[in-house]
Amino acid sequence: MPDLAYVNGQIMPIEKAVVPIEDRGYQFGDGVYEFVASYGGHLFMLEEHLDRLERSMRELAFDPISRADIRKAILDLFGLSGYQRAAIYLQISRGVAPRNHAITPGMPPQIIMTIRPVKEMPGEIRKNGATAITVQDTRWGRCDIKTVQLLANSLAKQKSLDAGCDDAIFVSDQGIVREGTSSNLFVVSGGRLTTHPLTDHILPGITRMVVLAVCKEAELEVEESFFGTEELYGSDEVFLSGTVTELLPMVRIDGKSIGDGKVGPITRRLYDLLRKQAMTGGAGII
Ligand code: PDD
Repeated sequence: MPDLAYVNGQIMPIEKAVVPIEDRGYQFGDGVYEFVASYGGHLFMLEEHLDRLERSMRELAFDPISRADIRKAILDLFGLSGYQRAAIYLQISRGVAPRNHAITPGMPPQIIMTIRPVKEMPGEIRKNGATAITVQDTRWGRCDIKTVQLLANSLAKQKSLDAGCDDAIFVSDQGIVREGTSSNLFVVSGGRLTTHPLTDHILPGITRMVVLAVCKEAELEVEESFFGTEELYGSDEVFLSGTVTELLPMVRIDGKSIGDGKVGPITRRLYDLLRKQAMTGGAGII
């Protein structure tokens, strides 16, 4: 089975899929998305991804579309692919209309999806940890909405690769550590975890939600509060969380070793618990 695309109800090989040039997602970045992964033939946290998708569409006042229809489209594509460990990218744009900054009323939202096997991260990075640079957060003020406007994220990621690192961490003008280019961020100090609170400045990550739930079960204390780069550099462990990233230890940031420069025990433990949850949790955690 080739990797598949879904375009407004039609399923086809990815290379055959096209969209109209006047799609507002293409011209204005006027679209939202989700990225869902499966483990052992089950889509992990599907309902939570659908909750966030609906919220993104509501916040941008898209014409509503049925959650049941979106869910069915995802499950149909997933079923057809036969992939056990699938990566589903789903994007909904506001619609298609002659280019105009003002929003033409009554446009039906456009739904596209792609499905591929998950490209697993190299085992070396998981085992030895990854490196990052910090970059100024130049993104717009509504990072809580999962829009396709990812230019700042993409440029920051490339900057980190050009610097010989694996990822970049956004830091605000006031020095507050926000999140990674496609992940949330946690620091561990003295056995306690801290992560940025849910505000307009970060994405409410689904993996972040799972990490919080797993920490509760494991009786690990987590604080959702702001912190700066000094706390980041000085913590015992740092890790990123995300659907693709899963849970990724960061052992060097801006050239400074985090803790002893090795993957820490709490990150390792939480990674195992997250994988266990994903393999057995199936549809979700709640
Ligand atoms: N990115 N923060 C940002 C900026 C993200 O883009 C993502 C996810 C996350 C983590 O969210 P979640 O745990 O729900 O995946 C945090 C996706 C995977 C992407 O852009 O491909």
